[in-house]
Amino acid sequence: MASSNDTKWQKDAADQNFDYMFKLLIIGNSSVGKTSFLFRYADDTFTSSFVSTVGIDFKVKTVFQQGKRIKLQIWDTAGQERYRTITTAYYRGAMGFILMYDVTNDDSFNSVQDWCTQIKTFSWDNAQVILVGNKFDLEHERVVSTERGRRLADQLGLEFFETSAKDNINVDIVFERLVHLICERISKRHPC
Ligand code: GTP
Ligand code: MG
Repeated sequence: MASSNDTKWQKDAADQNFDYMFKLLIIGNSSVGKTSFLFRYADDTFTSSFVSTVGIDFKVKTVFQQGKRIKLQIWDTAGQERYRTITTAYYRGAMGFILMYDVTNDDSFNSVQDWCTQIKTFSWDNAQVILVGNKFDLEHERVVSTERGRRLADQLGLEFFETSAKDNINVDIVFERLVHLICERISKRHPC
């Protein structure tokens, strides 16, 4: 039986009553917490079991910014290399990216530059990108300092947040900021 959350999502997905539709993508290595981050934002749930995403999936959420109804279509991509051809096909047309690494996983941090190159190769030139270091709650297992994260973000010209999908830290703010950046970008032609 559908939960009230499912019903809400079906309603949101079918809702044609909006001023703007923004397509967003969450990318980064496998297991950094992309799916968890989206579930936390979308239906405020978290599970500690790991079910690696196959291919790509999406959720819809409607938000309000400066009196406008903005429908977010948020695509959750598989981090595993073998799905790369499928997932990069979705980059085109994305107006915003959340590029995620895991603060307890050096490999995921070292891959950030490669993910950036993927964005440059496959997406629109004016796509907005936010760098996110997830699993902020695991302070005792941290291997990537906040300073390293911030320095890389500065080098790449990206905004930067550390988050926890588990403890719900900075999740909403990342989406709000991304929506704001996209609104700013398009405001010259169509004020948000
Ligand atoms: P792929 O689908 O393979 O690309 O992985 P993913 O990036 O979607 O990772 P997923 O969200 O499935 O999370 C991987 C594991 O990390 C799961 O066991 C989650 O419970 C855990 N996890 C995700 N976010 C957090 C977090 O903020 N803190 C902690 N402690 N664990 C997290
Ligand atoms: Mg996933």
